[in-house]
Amino acid sequence: MTARILDGKRIAAEMREEMRREVAGLAARRIVPGLAVVLVGDDPASRSYVAAKEKACAEAGMFSDDNRLPATTTQDELLALIARLNRDPRIHGILVQLPLPRHIQEDAVLLAIDPDKDVDGFHPVNVGRMIAGQRTFLPCTPHGVLHMLARSGITIEGSHAVIVGRSQIVGKPLANLLMRKDTLGNATVTVCHTRSRDIAALTRQADIVVAAAGQPNTITADMVRDGAVVIDVGVNRVADATRKSGYRLVGDVDFEAVSKKASWITPVPGGVGPMTITMLLYNTIESARRHA
Ligand code: GUN
Repeated sequence: MTARILDGKRIAAEMREEMRREVAGLAARRIVPGLAVVLVGDDPASRSYVAAKEKACAEAGMFSDDNRLPATTTQDELLALIARLNRDPRIHGILVQLPLPRHIQEDAVLLAIDPDKDVDGFHPVNVGRMIAGQRTFLPCTPHGVLHMLARSGITIEGSHAVIVGRSQIVGKPLANLLMRKDTLGNATVTVCHTRSRDIAALTRQADIVVAAAGQPNTITADMVRDGAVVIDVGVNRVADATRKSGYRLVGDVDFEAVSKKASWITPVPGGVGPMTITMLLYNTIESARRHA
């Protein structure tokens, strides 16, 4: 079998066009959704994510407030900025790019963001709301994965989804969303991690495999059954002297080999990545609507 490409770039473009029209509709009511992006330090990967988020905001007709702080910023300075953004009526969403420099406590920062502006869905109140099945901002990458599957006509309900990786940002929330009693849920979910005994034996049982381990070649062809759907959340930089940048991006899946067995597969780049940013815009628009 040769896999069909789950084209995140195309689906994201389709959704962003819908959102652009929605933002234009809100503008007629003098509502402009505003997103504040906060980047501390100059990690190159974080810088490029943040730039992509700001560009997407501008293209959708939204307001973006760009806050780039030096790596020497203290926790108190960052908390003071968040307090100001919490009060700013132009701002409907606040995103603090992770990871933060080591001298800043991530938990304290996430807790400081107003849960009603937490468009990442990382505040413990919003994590709790999600688990309780209440309406809230859903974390962007897992939410994007669900929409990508749904818009490609892939049935989640009743399937066995095996997630490799238990991160706070992807694995854990995705497991929760996939098991929800919801049209985008109702799956049977297995979560594997570094201490799992025989990961290949588990992934081979999957209708949907999600690779979210942050390691190239985590998922090889022998780990996937014929016809499985394979979602690659990994974004890894590997050295490549033929590229001007000196590196190229690869996911966690051995794409070449696995695409010969899977029924659907996401490429990297151009798969899950564009969906994450799309769901960030989606949450910010939703927040603007609620604040109005
Ligand atoms: N770093 C990697 N992914 C994310 C994300 O979705 N949100 C934030 N804030 N930081 C990240």
